[in-house]
Amino acid sequence: MSVHQSSNIKRITTHILQEMKLRGEKISMLTAYDFSMAGIIDAAGIDIILVGDSASNVMAGYETTLPITLDQMIYHATSVVRAVKRAFVVVDIPFGSYQGNSSEALRSAIRIMKESGAHAIKVEGGAEIKESVTRILSAGVPVMGHLGLTPQSIYKFGTYTVRAREEAEAKKLLEDAKLLEECGCFAIVLEKIPASLAKLVAESVQIPVIGIGAGPDVDGQVLVVHDMLGITQEFKPRFLRQYADLRSIMTKAVQDYIDDVKAKDFPKDSESY
Ligand code: KIV
Repeated sequence: MSVHQSSNIKRITTHILQEMKLRGEKISMLTAYDFSMAGIIDAAGIDIILVGDSASNVMAGYETTLPITLDQMIYHATSVVRAVKRAFVVVDIPFGSYQGNSSEALRSAIRIMKESGAHAIKVEGGAEIKESVTRILSAGVPVMGHLGLTPQSIYKFGTYTVRAREEAEAKKLLEDAKLLEECGCFAIVLEKIPASLAKLVAESVQIPVIGIGAGPDVDGQVLVVHDMLGITQEFKPRFLRQYADLRSIMTKAVQDYIDDVKAKDFPKDSESY
């Protein structure tokens, strides 16, 4: 058994994630948007793969997560699911396909589950989307919540700075976390909030709490894979630990290829038919 795998498990499930919280084993989560990357991450032993709407930024080059469509999310999710053998696959419901209309929320969630084969969906927000969350859960679709800095609301916040530093926002966040748990969500992501508040939330709910920029005292961590591998260039928030500098490695490989082509060194006879 690899040290990168929690045990000899065939498939990660919501039940296993809950057990991991209970025994204090941290949950690892990364994003992926395509077959090749998902295959690498899954084989390495990740617990959860998030098909994040951050695909809008890192795959499509948009400034925010708002433009990505439900069809595009399903395309990414389908590619990821084809590669994954062990990880639990969660898919972001994109902006505009669940807020304010619980029938549409249910339709969107069902489309994601049916067309991609993913295992769960993720929504951003608390009390204001309660009806949509409840409706999706009633259809048997596992739901992961997302509180704190919720990028789909960036134009409401106006900035990507740390959320819930003020008492009123911190209080609402804690209430929202409890509400999402009561509704039946299986986990919650907390993004960019004070570590002390994240710790309080993780201690106050029984379901796993996964942090990004939320300190160490939560039940697991998530990062955007292109950020932690050093493929994205300018995004360097304090919470990001960069585990590789793939951008430099890839740039050098492409430059070497160009040089070889220009120098008529590629292909050689041994690389020809
Ligand atoms: O879309 C995404 O990548 C996310 C993570 C940052 C949690 O929601």
